[in-house]
Amino acid sequence: MTGQSNRREFLRKSTETAAATAAVAALGGVHSMAAEGKSTVNIGIIGCGGIMTHHVKGLVGRREDVSINYLCDVDEAQSAKMAQITSGFQSAAAKKNGRYEDVIKDKNVDAVIIATPHHWHAPIALAAMSEGKDCYIEKPISHVYNEGHQIIQAAKKYGRIVQQGSQMRNSPVTVKAEKLLKDGVIGEIKVAKAWTAETRQVVKPLADSPTPSGVNYDRWLGPAPTHAFNRHRFHGTWRMFRDYGNGEIGDDGIHDLDMACWGLGVTGVPKQITARGSRMMLHGHASDYPDNLTCSYEYDDGRLLIYENYPFTAYGLHGFDNGNVFYGTEGYMIFSRRGAFSVFLGPKNQRGPTEGKELRGRRGYIEHMAEFLNAVRTRNANTKANPLTAHRSCALVHLGEIAYRTRGRLDFDTKKEQFVDCDEANELLTKKYREPYTLPKV
Ligand SMILES: NC(=O)c1ccc[n+]([C@@H]2O[C@H](COP(=O)([O-])OP(=O)(O)OC[C@H]3O[C@@H](n4cnc5c(N)ncnc54)[C@H](O)[C@@H]3O)[C@@H](O)[C@H]2O)c1
Repeated sequence: MTGQSNRREFLRKSTETAAATAAVAALGGVHSMAAEGKSTVNIGIIGCGGIMTHHVKGLVGRREDVSINYLCDVDEAQSAKMAQITSGFQSAAAKKNGRYEDVIKDKNVDAVIIATPHHWHAPIALAAMSEGKDCYIEKPISHVYNEGHQIIQAAKKYGRIVQQGSQMRNSPVTVKAEKLLKDGVIGEIKVAKAWTAETRQVVKPLADSPTPSGVNYDRWLGPAPTHAFNRHRFHGTWRMFRDYGNGEIGDDGIHDLDMACWGLGVTGVPKQITARGSRMMLHGHASDYPDNLTCSYEYDDGRLLIYENYPFTAYGLHGFDNGNVFYGTEGYMIFSRRGAFSVFLGPKNQRGPTEGKELRGRRGYIEHMAEFLNAVRTRNANTKANPLTAHRSCALVHLGEIAYRTRGRLDFDTKKEQFVDCDEANELLTKKYREPYTLPKV
């Protein structure tokens, strides 16, 4: 090649690259790592509590190709604790702040990891996507049913990558089980069961108390109704209250429901939902929720998904405190997100394949975060816990809870996504947001 044609080739490539960059940026918002050819993902951490500590320790410990630009929390003590974990990981220390708005407006941030209580997931994620940020959103992506739709729409509109924190989807145990199920090891799967059978203790109610210094409690409450500071309505224990969480079914249950959807291969939402629950074990428990709940979901093709929650078993079911059974025409598979599965075949329950010792206990955290970070780099939006997949699983949390709170048995119009003849239930598909923390419009 002559010097001149070399230069022409260079100019042509530069023009193509510039055009591609502009096109992706126009389509996808502010950042387009693939077009820019960079691999370090600049991250904003939003919500520096329990699971985020696990995530950040993982990113730091594995020396992932990320830069942690922000540690955002409405409680200064939480971001300060997280700063100790990130100290020394990168040359510039992460900025600590309490306003997620400042994180998502920063043009250098590519993606955010959101691990707040559930009532904050959609407001933060929608705002972040509108600013061109990709989002790893802890499970469940939605606090109420309709938020799931908004997240699907926003991801499409702004060309964003979204991964729900349902990590078992990416475990090598799941990959192995999926191949077997697809190859028909247990025939056609007709029924999937999911359970949460973790032992829970009574938590007694507590009086309100002064807000600890360094905490912006109004912001912690955000879109939820205003309330005096209460230790239970704060770190960790917020799960007991409808204003911020989704009960056991939306806490650990969502993982098991999600894997039930995976095994059953659901491609929609159920047309009929039944739910029953009561308080029969944890008397005096400060929670808004029943201490046991059984839901069943029937899909358009007649297949069934059953969810059971027992908070008092020391023994679990089939040996697992969290798990699934997939019942097929040729056998059944016991599966647990604790990282195991076993297959039983035919009328004599002959033992079939298992996950094998080498995969036992693999829970998918590393692979799931890696899939997200790679998707941010390559712009492959079809992650294993993408918004549509996540919404179909979260739908079961919301529809089950609504059935429990209303008639116990409800029909759902899967096209209109409305309950049939039950205004009371339809109202619960959404909620009121306290000003100024309303849901951003998509
Ligand atoms: N994937 C998993 O296995 C797994 C495990 C545990 C929890 N989770 C999920 O992770 C999320 C967090 O749960 P957790 O147990 O870590 O809760 P947590 O209470 O320990 O932490 C939540 C943090 O978010 C902060 N926060 C609240 N509002 C905020 C806001 N507007 N801006 C910034 N920070 C804010 C709180 O101050 C707190 O530090 C939930 O969605 C939960 O369901 C997932």
